[in-house]
Amino acid sequence: MDEPGNTAVLDIDRSAVPVIAIDGPSGSGKGTIARAVAEKLGFNFLDSGALYRVVALASINTRTAADDSSGLALLASTAPIDFAHSDNGDVAVLLGGQDVTQQLRAEEVGNCASKIATHPELRDALLDRQRRWRQLPGLVADGRDMGTVVFPDALIKIFLTASAEIRAKRRVKQLKEKGISANISGLLSDIQARDKRDYNRAIAPLKAAADSIQIDSTSLSVAQVVTKVLDLASVRL
Ligand code: DC
Repeated sequence: MDEPGNTAVLDIDRSAVPVIAIDGPSGSGKGTIARAVAEKLGFNFLDSGALYRVVALASINTRTAADDSSGLALLASTAPIDFAHSDNGDVAVLLGGQDVTQQLRAEEVGNCASKIATHPELRDALLDRQRRWRQLPGLVADGRDMGTVVFPDALIKIFLTASAEIRAKRRVKQLKEKGISANISGLLSDIQARDKRDYNRAIAPLKAAADSIQIDSTSLSVAQVVTKVLDLASVRL
């Protein structure tokens, strides 16, 4: 499957397509929540972090330096990125026709994504790729700037947080389930470093949109957060 919107549906009025934007720091659970909400509502799902990660992987593969802003922007607009439905129903990310979904989850790739995401040229190059996912019957988009920059007119904006410690624990569990070994203290300092970069960068920093609803998931289960978002959706959509 190509990124949606490349062909037949280009001329739909995208502003009429409802968006639920879910932003938050690394490990806040936004991916899991966004995917579950999209599934319940039958909406499309955009994992914008995967786009930053796949460009990061392309930069590692092509040895494009993390400070080469024009080289990175070129990669972001020309890299052969595709999305395909894998056997278990998940969306797989392809780079040059190769399934790189698992590779993208590596901490090295996440940290590189956070570094290259500081370049405004690269962020601009990814804007259109993200907005093309806005298709009927609706979109749930997760990331750092979904409600502030990419979909400022989203009907529902959630800012999902959790303490750094619980996020590190969740990340260890997630990585272990995928067969990737991880150590909690290393992950905690990675998460804190990544938070610092994501919150403080000059362009599109991670921040709650003024009209967002903040949910602290530190002591909530996935099901409880999903219910909160679906309750909001039933009122606003
Ligand atoms: O959500 P994630 O951990 O997969 O994202 C990896 C990095 O990509 C994150 O640390 C910062 C960057 N990113 C971003 O700057 N804006 C987004 N909308 C999504 C991710």
